[in-house]
Amino acid sequence: MQTLILPIDEFSLEKSKNLIQNDKCVAFPTETVYGLAANAFSDEAVKSIFEIKGRPTDNPLIVHIHKDYDLSSLVSFIPEYAKMLAKAYLPGPLTMVYKSKGTVSKFVSCGLDTLAVRIPSHKGAQEFLKYINLPIAAPSANVSKHVSPVTAEHVFNDLNGKIEVVLDGGKCSGGIESTVLDCTGNEPCILRSGLITKEMIEKVVGSCLVYTPVEGEKVRSPGMKYKHYSPKCQTELFLFDEYDKAKELYINKNKNGVKAYILCDDETANIVGVENILNLGKTEEEIAMNLYDMLRIGESKADFIIAIAPKKQDGVMVGVMNRLTKACKS
Ligand code: TXA
Ligand code: MG
Repeated sequence: MQTLILPIDEFSLEKSKNLIQNDKCVAFPTETVYGLAANAFSDEAVKSIFEIKGRPTDNPLIVHIHKDYDLSSLVSFIPEYAKMLAKAYLPGPLTMVYKSKGTVSKFVSCGLDTLAVRIPSHKGAQEFLKYINLPIAAPSANVSKHVSPVTAEHVFNDLNGKIEVVLDGGKCSGGIESTVLDCTGNEPCILRSGLITKEMIEKVVGSCLVYTPVEGEKVRSPGMKYKHYSPKCQTELFLFDEYDKAKELYINKNKNGVKAYILCDDETANIVGVENILNLGKTEEEIAMNLYDMLRIGESKADFIIAIAPKKQDGVMVGVMNRLTKACKS
């Protein structure tokens, strides 16, 4: 099977609908990263997502719906704070975890009694979800553990031959995955940080917890325990104030014939002043948007990526640091 990259139009939407109705997967764009879509009602379709990606079977999936889909047909309780957050930030890069009604395939939540639901804002994603009008289970459309895809070509490079269609919606503007927020308790709790920050959530509902896994305890967001987002070459991460150590490693590596690149923001690139740079850009938004693209460019050019963390560590940078740390985990 040769995978087709298609623009989003009547033809590709009709083709995608047929595939989804026949328990096949289709890749589609969202404002965060590309997703690998399947009918959330179908056991067969949902199981095939795990096979195609090589994903561990205890890592639950997010269900995607269009903005007019009836959320209450999927989940059993929507607390008041969740309604306020939905009003403020949806459609958008915020996934909310609720008590499940058990109407979708049990393989979506991997045995948990909760369901993660997301309403993406990307125009092409909304068109796709509206056209199909089914809840769509979708993880990021990469091979498990690899860097998430932010262009149709990235998806093609990982999944060519494994799926029939990638809907092309251009480069994702967000660049890192959605914030995953547990809405099953008295207060919201961030399970995975992202573009909707703790500060943004607190602005609407006053307070927000951040989940930190406790040693020996069952993790609440199973995806967080795995190595993730990793380029195929060696990597090492330095904090901003260790940039001189990063530069020293860069010089040593290149001297010894190991092609090293430094991945950092624009400000740091000016300070270190080396030749092989993977420049993430200036603003927080640019840094998030370029992170996965630069990691993929990096793995195609470099034997070794030396990442230097941005100086700023709050807001969206919490999510960026979370991804960078995982990408550079050995
Ligand atoms: O931006 C995104 O969220 C992208 C696009 C495609 O929408 N999707 C995405 O999916 O990143 P994935 O499968 O790569 O990550 C889903 C995360 C995992 O960390 C998983 O453990 C968590 O969401 N998750 C899913 N269902 C959950 C549940 N019921 N309870 C707690 N965590 C859940
Ligand atoms: Mg993923």
